[in-house]
Amino acid sequence: MCGISAVTGSEDIVAILYESILNLEYRGYDSCGLGVVGNGNVTVRKNTGGVEEVNRKEHLTKLKGKTGIAHTRWATHGKVSRENAHPHNSADGQFSIVHNGIINNYEDLRDELMAQGVVFKSETDTEVMAHLLEKTFQETGDIEQAFIQSVKRLEGSFAFCMVSARSQQTIYCVRQGSPLVLGLGTKSNFVASDVNAFLQHTRKALVLEDGEYATVTPDSVTVRKTADGSLVSRKPIRIEWDAETSRKGGYAHYMLKEIFEQPQTIRNALAATQEGVERIASQIRERRDTYMMGVGTTHYVAQAGQYFFSSLAGKYLPVVSSDEFVDLAVVGPQDMVMAISQSGETYDTRRGIAHAKDQGARTASIVNVMGSSLSMSTDEVIMQGSGPEICVVSTKAALAQMVILLRLALETGLQEGTLAAEQYDESYSHLKALPDTVTAVLNERSGFVRNLADKTVGYRNWLMLGRGIYYPMALEAALKLKEITYLHVEGMAAGFLKHGTLALVDEEMMSFFLVPTPEEKELNQHTISAIEEVKARKGPVIGIAFENDKRALKLLDHAIELPPTPPLVAPLLELVVAQLFSYFSALKLGRSIDKPRNLAKSVTVG
Ligand code: AGP
Repeated sequence: MCGISAVTGSEDIVAILYESILNLEYRGYDSCGLGVVGNGNVTVRKNTGGVEEVNRKEHLTKLKGKTGIAHTRWATHGKVSRENAHPHNSADGQFSIVHNGIINNYEDLRDELMAQGVVFKSETDTEVMAHLLEKTFQETGDIEQAFIQSVKRLEGSFAFCMVSARSQQTIYCVRQGSPLVLGLGTKSNFVASDVNAFLQHTRKALVLEDGEYATVTPDSVTVRKTADGSLVSRKPIRIEWDAETSRKGGYAHYMLKEIFEQPQTIRNALAATQEGVERIASQIRERRDTYMMGVGTTHYVAQAGQYFFSSLAGKYLPVVSSDEFVDLAVVGPQDMVMAISQSGETYDTRRGIAHAKDQGARTASIVNVMGSSLSMSTDEVIMQGSGPEICVVSTKAALAQMVILLRLALETGLQEGTLAAEQYDESYSHLKALPDTVTAVLNERSGFVRNLADKTVGYRNWLMLGRGIYYPMALEAALKLKEITYLHVEGMAAGFLKHGTLALVDEEMMSFFLVPTPEEKELNQHTISAIEEVKARKGPVIGIAFENDKRALKLLDHAIELPPTPPLVAPLLELVVAQLFSYFSALKLGRSIDKPRNLAKSVTVG
């Protein structure tokens, strides 16, 4: 959504503060700014554009000071403009804030403040807090009290960092529905939306929970409950991610790096807690229903999970996308809800879990980001261990989640007795061999994938089609292609095509098929029939197929050929190729690959 950051230290912190929003830019990047305490006020420099662009315009790194805040924005309220960029100052320049989230009652507060003569400079909900602070300080004469009393006037989900010229070296920060984590350094202390902001400087983190606020100085951190000011004592956690993993490592884009990291992230997913897998599997068996829930990519991951549980455990697990969960799912104490989320902060997914808990259901989650809200709020959690996923477009995290769902399905089948031990063992051997297969395919087929992308990127309209387990793979592949190329791509079930969508097919509509292995005879045959339906209407057809599938290779105009692969892992291998195809298509079109227009890595608002 947005990236907020604050640093206070014994020496000049501007370079660290600037670097922190460079590291948070994947969270939103339509505008940004810095505010630094000094000379009796808070000096703010901000503008539209990415962090480096704004630095060129505003010379952010020329600022000087030992305490400051920073922000990189994904617009929710108010257009992308310099005035709407953060930080926002109070009228007297004594208070400055950065904000992530939404203040639902900002219009009432804005009216109240304007009636008191306050002149607003922006269209944002955030600016309301800056003026509330000034007004409340005039009544209390105490900054901490002014901060908390102002926070208590707000309704919605938010995380704030505030600095004041009246308290030179103190950061005031609060968490209510949007992520906020403290970094405990040696010469400086940090506050940020996530650990990527300060990982180069400290691995020691203290995660705030909703309803808590903190006052942070260069050598102290005090956490209290917003409601009553009672002290909170919490042990810091150690962030195992290394800073290097967060950087590009020589790749042109984070997306390419993260695609090529997948052999390792598959191994990490295979190494994730077996005890957790066994516990959740036994819960799935005991519960009336286990819903899987995610949104965007993680919704498609959940849909892939349905096929794993159906084929390996003989169980149907309902899937509802997070945004629809509260309105559609029927859950109670006899059920479980399993959330899937890379960031662990997605608003809709967190709202679904909160609803499930309200209904008395058990909850579980598969999450990547350590210390994230979801990872701390469900009864069970499996940390997928994929390392930082910086590209807005999810690749390695999604594949790792699928591996974990496969493990859960295998475990459930084994416990249930619907899966023989030898099939369980054979399946695990295929999973353990997958990383090397992915490495080989990435190394040997990338050139062909790129040529095909270059050849076909001129098509404006696409269908991405798959059947059975290849259907959710097609949905995810479609999302990949559309979100980084901005082409119109519709993912759908291959079997659905003849029930209407075939009307769209002509020479201008490109159809991309994910063809099952020839061993999956019926699935393969049905997919080939769909290819023939398209060809009969003169539609161009390309796709991914296996070397030993002569019929598919003959039918497709162009095919990305894969080595013969066990059906259990073949869909995952095809997804990797589809990811790479999307990458090269976007590269050819000159798109902003790691930060596509209009998007943000973690959507923490409803
Ligand atoms: C996928 O490429 C997108 N980044 C988006 O659909 C994402 O998967 C979705 O917003 C869910 O995010 P989460 O996994 O962090 O909850």
